[in-house]
Amino acid sequence: MLLTRPVLLLKWILLIPTIIANANPPEEPVKCSNKLTNCTITNSYGAFPDRSICRAAEVAYPSSEEELVSVVANATQAKRKMRVATRYSHSIPKLVCPDGDDGLIISTENLNSVINIDQEKMLVTLESGVTLRQLITEAAESGLALPYSPYWWGLTIGGLLGTGAHGSTLWGEGSAIHDYVVRMRIVTPSGLGENYAKVRTLEDSGDIDGDMKAAKVSLGVLGVISQVTLKLQPLFKRSITFVTKNDTDLSDQAAIFGRQHEFADITWYPSQKLAFYRKDDRVSSNVSGNGLWDHPGFRAVPSVALAILRSTEEDQEGKGDVTGKCNNGKLTTTLLIKGAYGLTNDGILFKGYPVIGNQNRLQASGGCLKGPNNAEITACPWDSRVKGLFFHQTTFSIVLSKAKDFIQDVQNLVGIVPQSLCGVDMYNGILMRYVTGSNAYLGKQEDSLDFDITYYRSKDPKRPRLHEDVLEEIEQMAVFKYDGFPHWGKNRNVAFVGAIKKYNKAREFLKVKEKYDPLGLFSSEWTNQVLGLSDGLTMVKEGCALEGLCICSEDIHCAPQKGYLCRPGKVFKEARVCSLIQARSNR
Ligand SMILES: Cc1cc2nc3c(=O)[nH]c(=O)nc-3n(C[C@H](O)[C@H](O)[C@H](O)COP(=O)(O)OP(=O)(O)OC[C@H]3O[C@@H](n4cnc5c(N)ncnc54)[C@H](O)[C@@H]3O)c2cc1C
Ligand SMILES: *[C@@H]1O[C@H](CO)[C@@H](O)[C@H](O)[C@H]1NC(C)=O
Ligand SMILES: *[C@@H]1O[C@H](CO)[C@@H](O)[C@H](O)[C@H]1NC(C)=O
Ligand SMILES: *[C@@H]1O[C@H](CO)[C@@H](O)[C@H](O)[C@H]1NC(C)=O
Ligand SMILES: *[C@@H]1O[C@H](CO)[C@@H](O)[C@H](O)[C@H]1NC(C)=O
Repeated sequence: MLLTRPVLLLKWILLIPTIIANANPPEEPVKCSNKLTNCTITNSYGAFPDRSICRAAEVAYPSSEEELVSVVANATQAKRKMRVATRYSHSIPKLVCPDGDDGLIISTENLNSVINIDQEKMLVTLESGVTLRQLITEAAESGLALPYSPYWWGLTIGGLLGTGAHGSTLWGEGSAIHDYVVRMRIVTPSGLGENYAKVRTLEDSGDIDGDMKAAKVSLGVLGVISQVTLKLQPLFKRSITFVTKNDTDLSDQAAIFGRQHEFADITWYPSQKLAFYRKDDRVSSNVSGNGLWDHPGFRAVPSVALAILRSTEEDQEGKGDVTGKCNNGKLTTTLLIKGAYGLTNDGILFKGYPVIGNQNRLQASGGCLKGPNNAEITACPWDSRVKGLFFHQTTFSIVLSKAKDFIQDVQNLVGIVPQSLCGVDMYNGILMRYVTGSNAYLGKQEDSLDFDITYYRSKDPKRPRLHEDVLEEIEQMAVFKYDGFPHWGKNRNVAFVGAIKKYNKAREFLKVKEKYDPLGLFSSEWTNQVLGLSDGLTMVKEGCALEGLCICSEDIHCAPQKGYLCRPGKVFKEARVCSLIQARSNR
């Protein structure tokens, strides 16, 4: 009885693709009290890890490279701080903030055209604000495809490169978008002699100075990328089959599976001891099939349903109803399996595996980006304008040779606290993707397995989460014990502690930064902190560990009045996590 309501809701959300044709795109991240001045800027979740509000004196929307050059020149002459924002600004960390109150935001929203598609050479040249959705659609119209990409349409080419975003593969040139860049134009500050700004053209071939290796993944600190040329492939077909297995041999499979299937990934539900394997390979284009992937988590959801879903979870958190969370988690998983994860054989119905179709219909999706803007009716699940999902994301990659031990450690942890990761199942489990070593200075050092974990975040920063300690232990285990590399565009502050030291070529990156922007106009407090140039990455204060702003060293960093005290980890003893010690009170 108790379950009826959530069951219906989840069905509604996961199984009925588009009862409502009107989805609606996320909000503009930049808002100004006057037209283009006195602005605040946020990310698409409406909250940075530290929940600070970020201000800028002005925003500019250049619509050509020429305008971009003059914007950068003006700001350089005035020694003004600058940062680049994008159409939706999907990164979680505070990358987009310029320091102080006088900063300038340069938005790439109007730098949004595909400039040229060379079918013969299979090259596409784009302005940096073009979204993944646009790129995929326009390339397919010319019979071309980007082989590996993130799964979400709403990212821009500049933003994807900025944080080293990727899909999943160990094959070919690898999983990251930046490894398909052959040419790039970037606008950087300059001196009076060059009118304060210059356009630099970088080529992947003949990159003697390593500038391209720096610019491919730059966190936006080198200047503004104006245009990007990517190497594509002829459009091809894929055949996808999801196979559900128990997770007994997951730690062995993890290293092998990615070599067996070109687009392999694994979704892991540790509490249910289940793993979904994506067996996904190219097939000849004469194999019939018009399959479509419409990721359930990226669809437009009625705002009313989102509110009920969120309230249910808040209620379970408040009451300490772990069993309720586990039930909902199982239900979500069952519905996902039944619904083939949003796959259909023909764009309408799922009739069975394999699902075969063109790359452009299977590689990414984003139902909630379509249609007019009316968040009161439907929204992306995380849209901050409505009461919807609000979560943390801990995302890191661990080199393949160490992934086995990491998985076993997590399994041991779940062995000790069996229900501790149920909450993760409600956010589609732990997504594991294959990522490849790259020559980009801030790209992956070696072939690795990327773990993507999404979990409940309270609207109240002082309020602990159920089984807070287990996720904190996994986070610290990943980055400290297994030297995991945090995704630059996700994570809480803690994951970035010591991260830059893991990059062999960090110094080379900083040399290029010094050469392109000696005054650090494109750098901010946050970029300096993650690049190891200044302190303050973690913030030690009351309750700081709850939001991942610090690693606790005293009880006060947790929530002692609610029974959460700073304690060692259960498997990784060096971890310091907020554990529920006393019987918890309801408030
Ligand atoms: C629903 C969802 C799904 C996701 N899926 C994946 C996934 O499958 N794989 C993955 O790897 N990541 C994924 N991400 C993370 C995402 O790829 C990164 O956060 C990405 O950087 C966001 O791109 P954006 O266009 O929103 O850029 P922003 O977040 O706005 O910017 C990112 C950085 O790039 C800089 N930048 C942007 N444009 C330029 C430019 N023209 N010149 C110079 N600097 C620039 C910005 O200043 C900033 O530092 C996902 C995120 C969400 C919200
Ligand atoms: C700037 O905007 C803030 C609100 O965001 C407002 O309180 C303030 O008065 C504005 N200042 C000016 C000079 O417009
Ligand atoms: C550059 O600055 C001048 C004066 O400060 C201003 O009039 C002009 O509009 C600015 N140009 C751009 C592109 O911002
Ligand atoms: C997991 O599945 C394998 C077969 O794939 C089986 O042999 C094994 O007993 C299962 N383990 C558990 C714990 O169910
Ligand atoms: C598809 O094309 C391949 C060659 O690319 C050929 O060997 C095969 O017989 C074709 N199959 C069908 C069903 O036409």
